[in-house]
Formats: sequence, structure tokens, C-alpha cells
Amino acid sequence: MNARTSYTPLSTNPNLLKWVEKIAELTKPAAIHWVDGSQEENDALCAQMVAAGTFVKLNEKLWPGCHYARSDASDVARVEDRTFICSLSKDNAGPTNNWVEPFQMRKKLKEIFSGCMAGRTMYVLPFSMGPLGSPISQLGVEITDSPYVVVNMRIMARIGLPVLKEIDKNEKRVVPCVHSVGAPLAPGAKDSAWPCNKEKYIVHFPETREIWSYGSGYGGNALLGKKCFALRIASNMARDEGWMAEHMLILGVEDPKGEKTYVAAAFPSACGKTNFAMLIPPAPFRDKGWKIWTVGDDIAWIKPDANGRLHAINPEAGFFGVAPGTSDKTNPNAMVALSKNTIFTNVALTPEGGVWWEGMTETPPAELIDWQGNRWTPAIAKETGAKAAHANARFTAPASQCPTIDPAWESPEGVPISAIIFGGRRATTMPLVYQAFNWSAGVYTGATMGSEMTAAAAGTIGKVRRDPFAMLPFCGYHMGDYFRHWIKMQKALSETPRIFHVNWFRKDADGRFIWPGFGDNMRILKWIVDRARGRALSKETPIGWQPRYDDIDWTGCGFSRDQFDALQAVDRAAWRVEVMGHEELFLDLHDHLPKEMVYERELLICRL
Ligand code: GTP
Ligand code: SPV
Ligand code: MN
Repeated sequence: MNARTSYTPLSTNPNLLKWVEKIAELTKPAAIHWVDGSQEENDALCAQMVAAGTFVKLNEKLWPGCHYARSDASDVARVEDRTFICSLSKDNAGPTNNWVEPFQMRKKLKEIFSGCMAGRTMYVLPFSMGPLGSPISQLGVEITDSPYVVVNMRIMARIGLPVLKEIDKNEKRVVPCVHSVGAPLAPGAKDSAWPCNKEKYIVHFPETREIWSYGSGYGGNALLGKKCFALRIASNMARDEGWMAEHMLILGVEDPKGEKTYVAAAFPSACGKTNFAMLIPPAPFRDKGWKIWTVGDDIAWIKPDANGRLHAINPEAGFFGVAPGTSDKTNPNAMVALSKNTIFTNVALTPEGGVWWEGMTETPPAELIDWQGNRWTPAIAKETGAKAAHANARFTAPASQCPTIDPAWESPEGVPISAIIFGGRRATTMPLVYQAFNWSAGVYTGATMGSEMTAAAAGTIGKVRRDPFAMLPFCGYHMGDYFRHWIKMQKALSETPRIFHVNWFRKDADGRFIWPGFGDNMRILKWIVDRARGRALSKETPIGWQPRYDDIDWTGCGFSRDQFDALQAVDRAAWRVEVMGHEELFLDLHDHLPKEMVYERELLICRL
């Protein structure tokens, strides 16, 4: 270790110690810091980042315990074209993933990680995805040279000494994650506020359950417990072990009798999971006793219990939520959750030391510093179109601060799931809601999901792409095998959740959303829960069961029968085109496609 100052290892696990030593030898950090997860440590890291210019401490009176960061303009979202699944066989990664032969990738990684932490501190960050001690939880250690990652992970996962204690027992397999911003510092060189590298690699080795991430400090690229572990690696674990790792929110619906029904919902990135998970029902629903409880807003790990019922946990401990559009009107619960102890990235800064983003208030502040550090005023915005906040600006907030957090959100056995909802962002074709005829038709619905692309990933915004189960960027193996896994799961169940599809984003001829969305989504959710409990009616249509106008509770809402019919319309011509889109995906996956998908498609075509 010679010139390097090294903190005392906080673990006695020989495998962990050896691995840390090996990564240090490769990356050559100036120091090693074992993360204990304490408040003091967090405060010191934040202060250090404030001094370095990475963080701005927000006005303590307005935003207690909050910090603000601006990323490099080239490092603002997940990079799907730089994300790799390096399974032994290419066939195992499938056509929807980027694959590189593992030996070749390891050679490349060795090259780029060589000395990449020079001049920096290497943090050893033990974390648990899921409540510590839950049979559904998993352990990981992220080695990172980014203090920003450490303080974000402290919110997003359970970290530090209690996790090390679990790791030291040497009973559970630990997923090793290595992360570097890829910006070694020469002696005496001045660091940038957001170090990163133009060259990015987000790499997964499914067989050895390893993650290597290089070049980015942002979100799912760098907080490796989230998409890399809890979805790409965990989907592999889940397939092997008979459970499910899904890009789903989890919420509980409490009805007027006080009975709770839990549902999980998969919408693609930036398509409304956080908002739906924290929904506040319209006043007439609240008065009757309807209430929504939040378990998770992005990822669900779902396992059959001893009685064959699916139970879900939220593996995360925080929300990494889209800031733009979040307001007291659209999502008051998120606004409370992010009111303290939160990290804001790529939003705008107010002169008072507060934050702002598009949609937070109706009238923007008179003057701001935008996400790129430039002066911003409403007049400048009008002239140049400059956004104050980046469209993928995010808040990192503790889940425990959400006013509607479910009392059972950390329950080790999870919550029972009665319904599964799929949904995308579709301007046309897809109705507001329908229920699939049965499990395999439901799997078909999930498998053929489409959505317009959003700013959550680098790419063309607005284009419809197939995003099966909202897992296109997150499934760590062949998508066709993943469909088969879904089909097979039913055999382990004594009771199958009902499956639904929703679309809050259908537009009229003038390009406006037809459906009010947000709180009013409760009207649809109520029908869904009532269907799952066998207490609501519907009519049969070619695509599934649909509520009629009178099957929905419209109290306090002026939505007309005609508007509803327009939203629910199943246009056979449009659906024929839609089914061609399904076929295109199926052609890509054909040699791994379960025959159920082919039959379901045939039946759908016949009904149309
Ligand atoms: P990820 O964190 O990327 O996985 O996104 P998410 O699925 O959690 O999406 P989120 O809830 O953050 O919503 C993304 C955007 O969709 C925000 O700008 C919301 O304001 C908007 N949105 C959410 N729900 C609705 C809705 O019901 N109707 C409309 N029109 N917009 C919505
Ligand atoms: C998503 O893109 O689905 C997210 C944000 O939840 S990230 O963690 O960056 O993947
Ligand atoms: Mn997400």
C-alpha cells in the first residue's frame, strides 16, 4: 500500500478483504475509506464536496439537510448503448442487450480501470438491497471513487456497519460492484466539480454476478444497487431461483372497510411510477375512506410464499425521482418526502439557496441559475427555450419521509400482490384501461408493451419502442427466456394476480392529454382493485375486459361518457398496426419465444 493512507478495514471477511486489496492494486487510489454509514461520516463527505464545488449546501431554513449538484452536461442519464451484458454465451444475453465476450470485456476493463482512481479516495461501501435480514434481501459491496455516489447510496439502500456485520457472517453471497468516474487525478491537479469520462462502460457479468461501471457518475449508471444489481443481476438470480425482479412500483389500496389490496405496476422510465405510487385520491374518495399507501416507486422483488402467493418487497430505501413535473398539485407526497435530507441533481438553483424545476410552481422565479450553471430568467427561456432543470433532473430522497409510506414497507416477508398493472406512454391506440383475460394473456400484454421514449435515457425522445414489462434496458438475460420465466411462474402459484394495462397518456387531435391523470388515476385503480376482489363489472372486448362508463366512480369529476368512450376506444385498424409491432419484436426473439406468446397473438388477431 506504500504511499497510500489506508483506513482500517471494517470487515473481517477474508474474501472481501482480498477483493478490496485486489481492486486497490488495479485502480491505485490515494486512500481507502471503509464506509460505516454514520451521520458524522455523511456530514464530513458532504462538507468535503461543498468545499470541492461538487455540492452546494441549500438554505438550511428552506431545505434542511439538502444538497445540490450539477452534473457534467454529457453525463445526465442512463447510457443504454454503453450498457453490456457479458454472459458466457451471446445467446444468453439475447438480441435486446449489448453483448461482449466476457474474456474480451475483462481485458478491456483491466485496461481502463488500471490506475483510474489515482489521486482519489476509494470508498468501500457495503449495502443491502431490501431490509437487512429479510429472506428476500441481497447483499452487495460497491467500490467507488465518487463521494457523491456514497451519499446517494446512503439514501437509496441500507448501508454501512450493520451490513458488514451480515457480510462477516459469510453466509450469503455478496455481489461485488466496482465503480469509477474514470478520471484519475495527477498530483497537484485541480479536480472538476463532476469528474467523469467520455468513454463509458456499464458492464454486467451475470454468471459471476459482478458489476463494473466506468466513466459516469449519474443515477443508474453509478448507484449500482439500483438498475445494475436490483434488476439486471437480480433478474438472473430470480430466474435461477424461481422469483421475479421487476421494474415496478408497489402500492397498497385501503378501501372504506379498511381492507388493503396491494398492487405492483410496471411503467417504463419517466412514465409515472413515482407519481402512481404516491397517489392521493380525489376528495370524494378520501371522504369515503379510500387511501393509498406507498411501498416502493421503482423496483419490486417478488417471491411466492410457502402458500403459493406472490409477496413483494421494495429492495430500495429511497426515491431517485424525476424532478420536473413534481409539484404540490401533481405529487404532494413526493414534495414532502423531498423537503429535507435530499440531494438534488441537475435542477435549478434559486438566489435564496433553494431549488426549482419546470412544473414545480406555475410561475417560475424571476431569476435562477440553471442546471448548466448559467443565469436563467423566464425572458431568456422564452427567447432561447433553455430549460431551468434538465428533463432527467432527479431528487434522491429517503423513502421513510414519504407521508404515505406503508407501515409494512420494510416487512421482511413483503406484501401480498393481488394485481399487476402494465402501462406505457402512448398518444394513440392504447385505451385508458383493460384487464387481460388470464395470466398468459397478461404475460402477452406485458411482453408487447410499447412506450414513447423519454429523457431517462440518452436517445430519441417521443419515438414509440417496444419495452416489454418496462424491462428492455434492465433485463439481464434473453428477453424471450424472460417471457418464459413469467409463464412458468404461474405454476408455482396457488393464486394468480389479475393483470391489467393502463395508459394515462392518450392524446386528442390537438395533442393534449385526454385523461387528467395523477389523482384521478384513483378512479381506474379502484376498478382494478374491485376487479381483483371480484366486486366490479366489465365488458368483453377484443383485447380484454374493459369497464363501462358506469363501472367507474366519477364522483367529483366532470369527465363525460363521450370523453370516456374516446379514451377507451379499441380502434381495430390501429390495433392491426399495433400487432405488427408485436410481431417485429417477436421476430427478434423468435428462437426463445414461448409458444404461448405466438398463440396469444394469433387469438388476438382472430378477435380483431
Ligand atoms: P423513473 O424514475 O424514470 O423510473 O420514472 P417514473 O416511472 O417513476 O415516472 P414519474 O412518476 O417520475 O413521472 C414521470 C413524468 O410523468 C413526470 O413529469 C410526471 O409529471 C409525469 N406523469 C406522471 N403521472 C402522470 C399522469 O397520470 N398523467 C400525466 N399526463 N403525466 C404524468
Ligand atoms: C429509470 O431510468 O428507470 C430510473 C432512473 O429509475 S435510473 O436510476 O437512472 O435508472
Ligand atoms: Mn425506473
